[in-house]
Amino acid sequence: MRPNHGTTPRILPHLLATLLLAAVGVVALDAAPEARAATQAPPIPLDRVIPAPASVTPGGTPYRITRATRVRVDGSAEARRVGAYLAGILRRSTGYPLPLTGHGKGGIRLRLDKGDFGAEGYRLDSGAGGVTLTARTPAGLFHGVQTLRQLLPPAVEKKTAQRGPWRIAGGTVQDRPRYAYRGAMLDVSRHFFTVAQVKRYIDQLALYKVNALHLHLSDDQGWRIAVDSWPRLATYGGANEVGGGRGGHYTKADYRRIVRYAASRYLEVVPEIDMPGHTNAALSSYAELNCDGVAPPPYTGTKVGFSSLCVPKKITYDFVDDVIRELAALTPGRYLHIGGDEAHSTSHPDYVTFMDRVQPVVARYGKTVIGWHQLTGARPAQGALAQYWGRDRTGAAEKEQVAKAARNGTGLILSPADHIYLDMKYTNDSRIGLTWAGLVEVRRSYDWNPGAYLAGVPDSAVRGVEAPLWTETVRDSADIEYLAFPRLAGAAELGWSPAERLGWDGYRARLAAQGPRWDNLGIRYYRSPQVPWPAR
Ligand code: ACM
Repeated sequence: MRPNHGTTPRILPHLLATLLLAAVGVVALDAAPEARAATQAPPIPLDRVIPAPASVTPGGTPYRITRATRVRVDGSAEARRVGAYLAGILRRSTGYPLPLTGHGKGGIRLRLDKGDFGAEGYRLDSGAGGVTLTARTPAGLFHGVQTLRQLLPPAVEKKTAQRGPWRIAGGTVQDRPRYAYRGAMLDVSRHFFTVAQVKRYIDQLALYKVNALHLHLSDDQGWRIAVDSWPRLATYGGANEVGGGRGGHYTKADYRRIVRYAASRYLEVVPEIDMPGHTNAALSSYAELNCDGVAPPPYTGTKVGFSSLCVPKKITYDFVDDVIRELAALTPGRYLHIGGDEAHSTSHPDYVTFMDRVQPVVARYGKTVIGWHQLTGARPAQGALAQYWGRDRTGAAEKEQVAKAARNGTGLILSPADHIYLDMKYTNDSRIGLTWAGLVEVRRSYDWNPGAYLAGVPDSAVRGVEAPLWTETVRDSADIEYLAFPRLAGAAELGWSPAERLGWDGYRARLAAQGPRWDNLGIRYYRSPQVPWPAR
């Protein structure tokens, strides 16, 4: 010991110098000449996120993810899964090991806490020592993770190791959704989409805190879900699609995979069997479902309103009971959507009779009815939700019918077609899409307030917002992405962010910042001229 006494003071400066050199080395390693500017650039501001967070308090030193960073989760096994999901994303692009560990300070922490966060809210605290996400539920942590992703440079979304620095601005984000229901609908009937394609869309929806995937499982052109008691629905009724393609259907195992994957991204699957119209696929599969006992041929066109279940026949209700029972058994979620739109081949009294008989079946199998807003022209069941898909120019009487139902307790999901139908063309030049509700450029899709949209509707009746994607012209994931992005991000913001945070000017700047992320994720979006995208 003694001899060292004298040397220690001389070694210390050496040590310090070595440490300093090492630190400089780390910086040099992380910063290529072209990235050095980025090293100096401030990190992404805490409010440059979609959906706009409820409250942001910037300040303090940024946190920097390094090779030494750990992901600490001191919660349930489910919270650990959220931590593993985050670490999985960060490991690919940073190249850092980012081990998942338990309790401890510093690094990236995910904490469950009994605080007042709501069912899906979270708080993000960032400072020199670490970044902490706190939530009451794993869903809240998951939504916080999506915010964290957007606060890191766009390169975080790449699949291979990229240069940092990986900094998160200092401060606090406190966030929770405006609406409990924030949906996207995919029509898998007009064109069929594989489990892999649906999973890809689920991952994209999760980026923006969407929490419901509504699958339009049946229509005139195709029946897409296996029903054991009526097997020809899927094998015959599912064998076509618009344009004459092969179609397809989900086996029950396929469907469970979709439901499980959606749950892992905190989305609830809302299955829809559209009735009593939009039923040619079922009617062509079973002659006995037709009033005249004759099965019509399969249909691969795009007209609507020509088919109807046979309301007076008893077998219709055996069919409905079987289908709803089997579908409810596949559905951990609360809702079962029974369609009810465009029943132009069903008389009004028959429509009311049909809905009076079918809604209790949904309740009997433990689910809550959602119907398109034409359901408000019948007698919506207690607790039912109506999905409004009218337009600005929809007649006052129809709007008032919906508003009156809302005042009487029917909850509303807002999907105004001339704003949020993702299948409308952006411009006349859009390569796919329809135009019956008008052209819907990005600004039009975003620039409306769900809380003030329908006159005479109490605030409490609006349960959320959903962006439907009908697929008459949509054949693959590239088509889905072209129509959904960028408009889906706006729909998600309308569902999540408080009214006072909405506004086109701020939104379009935040939207522009998503472009490079989508490029890195391989999302093939429409580069609308209304948005100041950074150059590629
Ligand atoms: C619909 O667009 N027919 C709901």
